[in-house]
Amino acid sequence: MTGDTSARKLEHLKMIVSSKVESRESTLLEYVRIVHNPTPEVNLGDVDLGIDFCGGRLKAPLVITGMTGGHPDVEWINRELASVAEELGIAIGVGSQRAAIEDPSLARTFRAAREAAPNAFLIANLGAPQLSLGYSVREVRMAVEMIDADAIAIHLNPGQEAYQPEGDPFYRGVIGKIAEAAEAAGVPVIVKETGNGLSRETVAQLRALGVRCFDTAGLGGTNWIKIEVFRGKKAGSPLEAGPLQDFWGNPTAVAVMEARAAAPDAYIIASGGVRNGLDAARAIALGADAAGVALPAIRSLLSGGRGATLKLLRAFEYQLRTVVYMVGERRARGLWRAPIVVWGRLAEEAAARGIDPRWYANILRLEALAYKEVK
Ligand SMILES: Cc1cc2nc3c(=O)[nH]c(=O)nc-3n(C[C@H](O)[C@H](O)[C@H](O)COP(=O)(O)O)c2cc1C
Repeated sequence: MTGDTSARKLEHLKMIVSSKVESRESTLLEYVRIVHNPTPEVNLGDVDLGIDFCGGRLKAPLVITGMTGGHPDVEWINRELASVAEELGIAIGVGSQRAAIEDPSLARTFRAAREAAPNAFLIANLGAPQLSLGYSVREVRMAVEMIDADAIAIHLNPGQEAYQPEGDPFYRGVIGKIAEAAEAAGVPVIVKETGNGLSRETVAQLRALGVRCFDTAGLGGTNWIKIEVFRGKKAGSPLEAGPLQDFWGNPTAVAVMEARAAAPDAYIIASGGVRNGLDAARAIALGADAAGVALPAIRSLLSGGRGATLKLLRAFEYQLRTVVYMVGERRARGLWRAPIVVWGRLAEEAAARGIDPRWYANILRLEALAYKEVK
C-alpha cells in the first residue's frame, strides 16, 4: 500500500506535464465584470495587497494549493515551490501526506517545504476518505507537526476516488470526521475540493460545525476524473467517465458565490482554473479572500524551473495590483466593494441556486466586509 501511494504520486505528476488534464467546462469567471474606474483617485504605489488569512498574514492574496510530496523524486518540487512562496510572501500547500503517515521515511519530502519557507503560511494536507476510513485527530496532528504547518487542508475528491483504479470512494461519516478534526487540529482546518467545486450546502453544514476556511477548487481547471480515467486506461481499466470528466461539478465562480452566501464570515480561497491575475481579481471581487493556483505553478516549474514559476506568480500579483488600483482601492478586499456585473450563465446559475445576483453583488459582498479587516 505504501509503495502504491508513493508511486501513484510520481505517475500523476509525469502525466500532468504531458496531457490535457483540464475540464472543457469553464470556471464561469468570464461572467464577472469588474467595473473600470477611469478616475481612481489612488496611485498604483498606494496599493498594498496584504491580507489577514486563516490566522496568518499574506503579502498578497495568493495560494499555491497542495500538490505533491511522498516520493523522493518530488521532494525538490516542494522545496522550489515553497521557496517561491517564501519570496513572494504567499501561502503554499503540500500534497496529501498520507504516504508519509504510512511510511515516515517519506516525511522529509514534505518537510522540504518548511525548510525552504520558514516564514510562509504553510498548509498540511490529508484526504477526507482517510478520515472516513479511520484516520483520527492523531493523524491530523501528525500531518501538521510533520511540516510545522499553519493550517491543514482536508481535501474532498469523491469523483477522483470513483475513477482511481486504487481509489477509496468512502465518504460515509465524513462531515462528522471533518468537524472532529477542525475542533482538535490545533491549527485552522481548510476544507478544499480538488476540482469539482464546493457547494452551498457543504459549506453551510461545515461552517455550522466550526470550519471557517474553505478552498472552492471548482470546475474549470484541473480535473481529477479525467486524470484517473487516463491513468486507468493505460492500466487496462474499463471505466469510462464520458461527460463527467469535463462537465461534472460546480464551476469556480458559482462555487465562490455559494460559499460566500453560505458563510459570510469565512475565509475563502477561490481556486480551480484560475490562470492569470484577472481571474484572481474577478474571483476576489466575487467575494473570495484569496485566489489559489495549482497546475500552472507546477507546469511552469517543470518546464522552466523556479524562475519561471516566480515570473508567473509575479505577473499574477502585478495584474491583481493593477486591477485594485484601477477600481480606486488600496487593498485587495477593497474589490468586495468595487462595482461588479454578474451576468449571463453565472447570473442564471446563481439565481437558480437561490442567490439573487444583484443582491449578492450589491449587498452581500458589502455585508461580508464587516467581518474582515479592510484597511
Ligand atoms: C499535480 C497535482 C497534484 C495534486 N495533488 C493534490 C493533493 O495531494 N491534495 C489536494 O488537496 N489537492 C491536490 N491537487 C488539487 C489542487 O490543489 C487544486 O485543488 C486543483 O488542481 C485545482 O486547481 P488548478 O485548476 O489550478 O490546478 C493536485 C493538483 C495537481 C495539479
